[in-house]
Amino acid sequence: MRRNLAIGAVIAVSIALAIGCVEIDSVRAQNAEASPIYGVTIPVGYRSWELIGPALEGDPLNELRAVVGNTVAMDAYRKSTLPFPDGTVLVKLAWKQTQSTEFEPASVPGAATTVQVMVKDSKKYASSGGWGFGRFINGKPADVAQHETCFACHEARVQQHDFVFTRYAP
Ligand code: HEC
Repeated sequence: MRRNLAIGAVIAVSIALAIGCVEIDSVRAQNAEASPIYGVTIPVGYRSWELIGPALEGDPLNELRAVVGNTVAMDAYRKSTLPFPDGTVLVKLAWKQTQSTEFEPASVPGAATTVQVMVKDSKKYASSGGWGFGRFINGKPADVAQHETCFACHEARVQQHDFVFTRYAP
C-alpha cells in the first residue's frame, strides 16, 4: 500500500513537471516569433486580407510591395477615420522586382523579402504613437537595431496621417 502511494506520488510529480516544460516551451516559441521592443507577431490569415494599396521601391531595394489591412483597418480607410482605431493591423508584403520572362516590359514579384506589421494599441504602444512594429524575414523577426528605426521614420514623415504612409488606392 505504502509502495503504491509512493509510486503514485512519483507519477504525479512527473506529470506536473512534464506539463510545466511544455508550457515553458510554448511561451519560448511565441517569444521567438515576436518582434523585439514591441512583441508584434505575424497575424494569422493576413495573406487573404484586402488590398489598401501597392507600392514600388526604387534602387537599391527594387521591391514590389502591397499593403493589406484587417477589417478594422479597411473600415477606417473607407470612412477616413483618423487616428486609426485600436485593433487596426496593417501588413506590408514585399518582393524583389523581377522582369517577367514572358513579357519584357512587365515586372513581377520575385523572392519574398520582408513582411512588416503595424498594430494599433494606443495604451500598450503609447510611446510610439500607438503603433507596435514588426519586421519579419523568412517568418523570423529582425533584430533590435532594425526595430529602433521604424517609428522614427514614420514619425518624421507621416505624423499628420497617424504615422501611416499608405493611402487607400482609388
Ligand atoms: C526610412 C523610412 C522608413 C523606416 C525606417 C521604416 N519604414 Fe515602414 N514605411 C515607409 C514607407 C515610405 C512606407 C510606405 C510604403 C512603401 O513605400 O513601401 C512604409 C510603410 C510601412 C507599412 C505599411 C503601412 C504604412 O505606413 O504605409 C508598415 C506596416 C511598415 N512600414 C512597417 C515598418 C516597420 C515594422 C519598420 C521597422 C522595422 C519600418 N516600417 C521602418 C518608410 C519607413
